Amino acid sequence: MRAIVTGKTELGGTHRKKGLAPRTQILADVATELAKNLGMMIPPIRAWRLRRPRTVGELEEITTEVMEEFAFAPFEMVTACLPAAELRGATVVEIGPGDNVVLGLALLALGAGEYHAIDRFLGDVRSPRAQKLYTTVARVLPERMDVPASAVPEAGNFPKVLLGSKVFLHRRGIEEFRSVPLAGKADLVFSYGVGQSVASAEAFAQATAHFLKPGGSGVHAIQFGPMGPWTEYRNPLTFLTVPESVWKWTSSHRGGANRLRYHEFLALFEKAGLIVETETLEEFTEEEHEEAWPHLDRRFSLAPRDSLRVRFAKFVCRKPGPESRRTGSPS
Ligand SMILES: C[S@@+](CC[C@H](N)C(=O)[O-])C[C@H]1O[C@@H](n2cnc3c(N)ncnc32)[C@H](O)[C@@H]1O
Repeated sequence: MRAIVTGKTELGGTHRKKGLAPRTQILADVATELAKNLGMMIPPIRAWRLRRPRTVGELEEITTEVMEEFAFAPFEMVTACLPAAELRGATVVEIGPGDNVVLGLALLALGAGEYHAIDRFLGDVRSPRAQKLYTTVARVLPERMDVPASAVPEAGNFPKVLLGSKVFLHRRGIEEFRSVPLAGKADLVFSYGVGQSVASAEAFAQATAHFLKPGGSGVHAIQFGPMGPWTEYRNPLTFLTVPESVWKWTSSHRGGANRLRYHEFLALFEKAGLIVETETLEEFTEEEHEEAWPHLDRRFSLAPRDSLRVRFAKFVCRKPGPESRRTGSPS
């Protein structure tokens, strides 16, 4: 499975390599991130930044790799948790789809009844690039997922024609989950590369439990690696050296990394009443960890070592109750 954020950064642009923690470079990056965060508090700047393409919107073209990375990797993560046969008629909720809702198209093709997208910074899901992704995925879906072509929503008009009947877009942060009228209605709640960016991970976990029916399943792939300029350091743990008191001012208004670690997400899902199984998909190396450890902010140097090593992980959560739809074990 891809390490989403690092993969996209490499796809999207230059990749300056930096030595570990030259203080001035870190200070410069902190200052830039602070300015961007403050900018998001100014309405015209915020509006301009939200209109800018992100994820698929900024790609040159929709290649086979892009389709695998943006559509099929997360899609197969979901169908491993809730097999296709059991998606029929299901209500599914995706948190943080970004600037396309291609997973909605694929899940509806498999027979899901309703697809809900909740995103604090939902992009233009009808941009030409998003539309191209829908068309490309719609073309290969019948063979890839063994569904009749007639079951695939019409890509050219997606999601417009299904808005309000099968597709529902909720432009708000997951922190406002109680305002989405889905309490106890979802068979499946999922996200891919989102948990690390939410303002409140506690709300993210509680929302999962709140939306699910008893017996329903949640699956979240969470990225614990660096994002934005922090991907450019040779040691990927450099972003954890920035003091917490400073970090929060670099990310609070723009979905920057909350830097919660694996063990903290696990505890939050369990606290929300979910039964959780996890799978580590990628780890930091022992060398990266050893080199960065003396420089880490105290919050991280005190964290369990095993947790700090996790770079990308999948959390499969089940809401206790009758098994209306079976949850597969993580695979
Ligand atoms: C790294 S992108 C991942 C996008 C997509 N899932 C993918 O794999 O390409 C993170 C997404 O989370 C969304 N997000 C950030 N904070 C959020 C919040 N508090 N509530 C809901 N969505 C949020 C962002 O707007 C963005 O679309």
